Amino acid sequence: MQHSSTARFRGQVALVTGGGSGIGRATAVAFAREGATVVVAGRNPERLAESVRVIKAAGGRGDAVTADVTRAADIARLIATTVERYGRLHIAFNCAGALGTPSPVATLDEGTWADLVATNLTGVWLSMKYEIAHMRDHGGGVIINMASNVGAHLRVPGLGAYAATKAAVSVLTRAAAREYIREGIRINAVSPGPVATPMSRMPGETDSERDRRLQRQLPIGRVGQTDEIAAAVLWLASPESSFVVGHDLVVDGGASA
Ligand SMILES: NC(=O)c1ccc[n+]([C@@H]2O[C@H](COP(=O)([O-])OP(=O)(O)OC[C@H]3O[C@@H](n4cnc5c(N)ncnc54)[C@H](O)[C@@H]3O)[C@@H](O)[C@H]2O)c1
Repeated sequence: MQHSSTARFRGQVALVTGGGSGIGRATAVAFAREGATVVVAGRNPERLAESVRVIKAAGGRGDAVTADVTRAADIARLIATTVERYGRLHIAFNCAGALGTPSPVATLDEGTWADLVATNLTGVWLSMKYEIAHMRDHGGGVIINMASNVGAHLRVPGLGAYAATKAAVSVLTRAAAREYIREGIRINAVSPGPVATPMSRMPGETDSERDRRLQRQLPIGRVGQTDEIAAAVLWLASPESSFVVGHDLVVDGGASA
């Protein structure tokens, strides 16, 4: 396999939820390029299989497990299957998330609210719960949770429910980080700004319309790329960030500066 010259994660097993698309897929491939065995998890088997194909085409080792992060039984099975197949879980990137249909607070429907809380917040909590249970009995590990700059760092009209779940992820990350660092589990979050995936498009907007809007709006003058988020996640997962505990790393081209 053509590992990059650093191969920071050789011999490690990394899990990426929401690994079937977007930032999750890019990060899964980046971990594999640097030597990790990567398990991608999500609800859609075809998209997960495509991520595994991309990982293998890049010379990496990867595998897929179908799991819905809102279901405790799915997460328990995901962690058990990962450990059965590869013996250990060293790194978890809890990336699965949803934006929902944007709506001001007073016209938001209960179903959208419940889905956002279940996916973005309960999903991260359940993932951490089972990841930590394994890691604390097997010599520790590293967890990175997906938050957003639209959360603890920035307010955007119409995204209040989404932002509330992501701000909660940021807070939960810091609480868990303090609770488990003495057990060798280092927990942080990443908060991207708009990244070039369908999620950063406004309703009805094309990719190029999104790109032009963000060129005007963002201090850096362009949308973020999935690889730029992957690079931040890999740094948080690596020993280079060994003294970084309970941090929510904003990677947003200056949007919330
Ligand atoms: N794209 C952006 O601009 C941006 C900015 C900040 C944060 N984020 C966050 O990054 C993460 C990835 O987003 P993306 O832009 O790659 O979009 P995406 O839609 O490609 O990724 C989300 C992934 O999560 C999966 N998922 C959703 N609900 C799930 C569930 N219940 N169980 C398992 N998997 C589930 C989806 O299938 C998908 O693969 C999300 O948490 C999102 O909130 C994205």
